[in-house]
Amino acid sequence: MEAGTARQLAYALERGNDDHSAILVLEEDGRRQGFVWVKMLDDFYGGPPMGKISEIAVTESGKGSGRQLMSAAEEWAKKRGARLMLLNALETNASGRRFYSLQGYEPEYTAYVKRL
Ligand SMILES: CC(C)(COP(=O)(O)OP(=O)(O)OC[C@H]1O[C@@H](n2cnc3c(N)ncnc32)[C@H](O)[C@@H]1OP(=O)(O)O)[C@@H](O)C(=O)NCCC(=O)NCCS
Repeated sequence: MEAGTARQLAYALERGNDDHSAILVLEEDGRRQGFVWVKMLDDFYGGPPMGKISEIAVTESGKGSGRQLMSAAEEWAKKRGARLMLLNALETNASGRRFYSLQGYEPEYTAYVKRL
């Protein structure tokens, strides 16, 4: 995990869950299987608020934990008025992008970057 991400997560953990941000942890038989960090965002144009998945990771891939965490995050955001969920995936993360598309997510716009 990148240092910046770890710092952000540490801050979110310290702050605790509220109606704007939550770290949901999946446990099975008392063992942590993974987490998802989900937030609420205001719509820039004044529309309904949106959910955003900021991070998701599991301890063991391919056991259905990722799918369960995505559903839990979607329920969390829906309960708070979200009708859309956003997330970012690196173009280079082919397996992450495949996972998201299996969960019903579609790319909507392309972010362009240039190294300076
Ligand atoms: C991406 C991640 C969260 C998926 O979690 P998971 O528990 O392995 O996913 P699941 O077992 O719930 O799988 C759900 C579906 O996605 C598919 N899938 C899961 N990981 C995949 C991968 N890396 N590549 C391709 N397909 C994948 C599964 O085959 C499954 O398909 P099915 O519904 O047809 O059976 C997990 O691999 C992970 O923690 N990766 C490292 C962190 C990361 O990349 N986070 C995302 C940043 S963009």
